[in-house]
Amino acid sequence: MKKDETWVLPSLREAQKRTRNNSQIIHSNFELTNEEKEIGKGRTYFIRTYGCQANERDSETIAGILNDMGFTVIDDIDKADLVVLNTCAIRQNAENKVIGEIGYFKHQKIKNPNFILAVCGCMAQEEDVVDMIIHKYRQVDIIFGTHNIHRFPALLTQHINSQKRSIEVLSKEGDVIENLPVARFGKYKAWVNIMYGCDKFCTYCIVPYTRGKERSRDIEDILKEVETLKDQGYVEVTLLGQNVNAYGKDLGIEGGFARLLEEVARIGIPRIRFSTSHPWDFSDEMIDVIAHYNNIMPAIHLPVQSGNSDILKLMGRRYTIEEYKNLYDRIVAKIPNATITTDIIVGFPNETEEQFVNTLDIVDYCKYDNAFTFVYSPRIGTPAARMDDNIPADEKDKRLARLNDKIKFYARQKNDTLQDKVLEVLVDGPSKKKSDIMSGYSRENKLVNFVPLPNTKEGDVVKVLITETKSFSLDGKQIEE
Ligand code: 5AD
Ligand code: SF4
Repeated sequence: MKKDETWVLPSLREAQKRTRNNSQIIHSNFELTNEEKEIGKGRTYFIRTYGCQANERDSETIAGILNDMGFTVIDDIDKADLVVLNTCAIRQNAENKVIGEIGYFKHQKIKNPNFILAVCGCMAQEEDVVDMIIHKYRQVDIIFGTHNIHRFPALLTQHINSQKRSIEVLSKEGDVIENLPVARFGKYKAWVNIMYGCDKFCTYCIVPYTRGKERSRDIEDILKEVETLKDQGYVEVTLLGQNVNAYGKDLGIEGGFARLLEEVARIGIPRIRFSTSHPWDFSDEMIDVIAHYNNIMPAIHLPVQSGNSDILKLMGRRYTIEEYKNLYDRIVAKIPNATITTDIIVGFPNETEEQFVNTLDIVDYCKYDNAFTFVYSPRIGTPAARMDDNIPADEKDKRLARLNDKIKFYARQKNDTLQDKVLEVLVDGPSKKKSDIMSGYSRENKLVNFVPLPNTKEGDVVKVLITETKSFSLDGKQIEE
C-alpha cells in the first residue's frame, strides 16, 4: 500500500517526548464551513465507543460535531452510512476486539459503496497499529487521533469529496480547545473533563503516549460547564481526568483538585463523582473536602495495581504498600461510609508467587467494595514491555482467578452490610433484564435494582429499601420519602 503524502501519521518517538511549553486554552467558537454544515444531510451515523470514560466523553463531542454537520444518529450499526470506532489501547484484548470489528466492516463496504468507516481514539495514536490498518484493512477510510477531534469535519469532507483515505494523527498534544459541540448521551448524568493527558508514566501504561502530557482546563470553564448542566436539570456530574489529583498543577492553580472539588460542590449540583485518583498525590485537603460536602459522593476509586512494594517500584507507581495503606486508613478514618474500589494487575513481568500473595494481602487489608482486575498486557513503547518475563500465561490466568475469588468474597461481604438499609438511588430507567424493575446507582456507587413506586422515572433520586444482596448488585423496593 502506497502512503499518501497528505497523511500525518503517528510517531512513537514524538509521543514519548515531553516539552515544558504549556498548551494554550482556546476559547474561540467552533466554526464549520458551509460545505461541512451540509455534507451529512441524508446520511446516518453510529459511534461505537471502547475503553474509559474519557473516550465516552470524546464520543459525545464527535456526536455533537456530526449532528452539526447534518448527519442523523441511527441505532442499528448495520444500517449506518458512517461508523466511527472510538478505540482503546490499554490492553491487547481491547485492541483485538476493535480489529475484529474492523474486519466485520469489509462486507458493509461491499453492500454499501458509500459506507464510511472512521477509526479514532487511543489505538489511532499508535504507530504500529495505524501502520497495520493502512496495510491490512482497506475498509478504513478515516483515521484521526485523540488530539485533533476538531479536525474530523475537514477530514470527513476531504474523504467524501476525494474518495481517498484521510489520515491525520498528531503525536504531540496541541491546545486545550473549549467550545466544541457536544451531544450528551445522558439527560441526568454528565461527564465533565477537568484535564487531559497523563505525566505519571507508570511503566506498563500506554496512556501517557496516546493522550499526551497533562493539560488542565481553566477552573472558570469547568465551573461554568457544571453550572450550565445544573440549569439544564442534570443531577450528577463526574469530573474526569487520567489522574484528577494532578488537576491545576500545570497551570499553577492554587489548591489544585481539592479547591476545584470544593468550588464544584458549592454550585449545588446534587451529585458529584470524580475519576480517577492516583494514590501518590491524593492530599489530606482532598479527603477533607470529600468528607465535608454531602453532594460529593462517598465513593473513591483508588488503584493499587499491586500489593508488593518491589513490584510497585518496577511499575513506577511512586508509593510503597505501607504508604498506600496509610492513605487508605486516613480516608476511611475521615469518610467511614466511603466505598473504596481499585484496579489490580497480576502477572507483571517476573512477579513471584510471594509477590502475588502480597496482592491478595492488600485485598484482605482494604476489603475493597469492588475491583477491576487484569492480567498484565505488554504495550509496545512502554518500559515494562522491554522487561523479560518468566511467568507463563496460564500461571497468570490462575492468579487472576484466585484474585477474583477474593474480590468477589469482599464485594459480597460489603454488600451484605447494606441489607435492610435505605439507600438513595439516582434512577437510570427500567432495568436491562426486567422492564417492570428499575435500576440506578446509590450514593456509594452500588448498582441497585428495585421495584419502583408508580410514576418514578429516570432522573429521580429515590429511597430504596434493600431486600436482597448479591456480589455485584443489590435488590430492593422503593419506599415513600
Ligand atoms: N496491562 C494490564 N492492565 C493495565 N492497565 C493499564 N495498563 C495495563 C496493562 N498494560 C490497567 C490498570 C489501570 C486500568 C485502567 O487498566 O490497572 O488502572
Ligand atoms: Fe483506553 Fe486509556 Fe485510552 Fe481510556 S485513555 S481509551 S483506558 S487507552
